[in-house]
Amino acid sequence: MLTKEQVITWLTLCHEVLEENKTWLTQLDTAIGDADHGNNMNRGFKKVYAQLDAIKDKDIGAIFKATAMTLISTVGGASGPLYGTFFLQAGNKLAGKEELTDNDVAIMLRAGLDGVVMRGKAQAGDKTMVDVLIPVTESVEQDINAGTPLAEALAKAVEVAEQGVKDTIPLVAKKGRASYLGERSRGHQDPGATSSRLIIEALFNASR
Ligand SMILES: Nc1ncnc2c1ncn2[C@@H]1O[C@H](COP(=O)(O)OP(=O)(O)O)[C@@H](O)[C@H]1O
Ligand SMILES: [Mg+2]
Repeated sequence: MLTKEQVITWLTLCHEVLEENKTWLTQLDTAIGDADHGNNMNRGFKKVYAQLDAIKDKDIGAIFKATAMTLISTVGGASGPLYGTFFLQAGNKLAGKEELTDNDVAIMLRAGLDGVVMRGKAQAGDKTMVDVLIPVTESVEQDINAGTPLAEALAKAVEVAEQGVKDTIPLVAKKGRASYLGERSRGHQDPGATSSRLIIEALFNASR
């Protein structure tokens, strides 16, 4: 189970970890993009963090929807609307909830991933955040269905996410700015896959 307090902790940890890794994410985006991913994510989650106090008494669906709106309006770039859609779709599925069961967490990840794919049309292997979100969602769904406790399922998801990030290195980008580089995008870790890994790690840390 994830309490509302843990959901707030997740969003707080997202802010912290994206601030800590801002320079690194921007470096990754310097190699195959336009050197703004760290700044984009930090700007967005700083604003999300700043509004938490004002929205913390809403239901979890509404908290995610407010988070989505803030990300869409402040992050910019490709990643703002994509992460915004993640939280928007997750929020739609969790409307009215005051806490999340383990299964709700799997539902949240699936809805978020489907939203990102619907919006960005990336497939597995296109060298995007989806290369982390797909294996993470599948892993968590499988574990939760098998009755694995949430924190354990999410601990494994962090490993799966890390592997997903590594797996983006040899890929040629097919979506987003990095795709303009064609073959020259090979050999670099995808920035959005990396921020997704940080967000999943924050979720795990909030669940413990
Ligand atoms: N169509 C897409 N679907 C999924 N993820 C995408 C797509 N396009 C870009 N991304 C992700 O967005 C990241 C770049 O984000 P960011 O630098 O913030 O935006 P921009 O590319 O507009 O500067 C990429 O590393 C990739 O993971
Ligand atoms: Mg960029």
